[in-house]
Amino acid sequence: MGVGPSGRVDRLLWVVHRWIWDDPDRRVRKLLSFAEVETDGGRDLLRAAEVTADPLLRRLYLAHAIDELHHGDLLRQRGAALLRTRTQRTALAAPSRWLPSDGHGIDDLRIGDEPDESLLAFLHLAEKSAAGRFSIYREVVGDDTLTRAVFEEILHDEVFHMNYTYTQLARIAPGSYRRRLWRARAGRLWKQYLRLSSAFAGVIGTIMLTVVYFILLPPFAWLAKRAERREKAGWALHPSEPNESLTGQY
Ligand SMILES: [Fe+2]
Ligand SMILES: [Fe+2]
Repeated sequence: MGVGPSGRVDRLLWVVHRWIWDDPDRRVRKLLSFAEVETDGGRDLLRAAEVTADPLLRRLYLAHAIDELHHGDLLRQRGAALLRTRTQRTALAAPSRWLPSDGHGIDDLRIGDEPDESLLAFLHLAEKSAAGRFSIYREVVGDDTLTRAVFEEILHDEVFHMNYTYTQLARIAPGSYRRRLWRARAGRLWKQYLRLSSAFAGVIGTIMLTVVYFILLPPFAWLAKRAERREKAGWALHPSEPNESLTGQY
């Protein structure tokens, strides 16, 4: 199985993946969010099966949709089973934005007026990324045999999806399938760049606000306190109006 550019990035993020899956709360949250992504992908593929004019692709999209909906069920059931074993009932915190995304790309799928060539190129790359991700997840949850078994089953299907989308793309666009793949790859890279930039902007914003709070604000607080110490307690006459009555109306 080949592992694409995002697969190499995931390998570099191995320690982060291990850290995410080691924690029981994060494990449950990840499984449940993956379940949503897979189910949404299944629904989109059902739509793709409806709109394609190619009978073979319609059958393949339908089989693919059934697989993705099944993945959603497997992940949801495993997440729910782990959730029931949690002794401490605490709310699951929202995931940090800098963590690797849950979608491996298929969450960006939009079925509209896109021709089958573009859809197959997009799907091939998303499935390749999914195969790379699930092979890592399978290893980092090695202590949890049931979750590992779920990932193994899903990985088997993702490799099939990765291969059939490539074969079908080469069948329907023999002269342009490489160009289609490069275009789809550029689109994915651009989306990854936007995701990373947005996460980076969030981190920089937090750092800047922390710097302002701890470095710029203390001098002003100190000046305000010093001015307060110099003020006399109680009421005082204004120097420009020393004879003004405090009880008179004018
Ligand atoms: Fe899947
Ligand atoms: Fe898939």
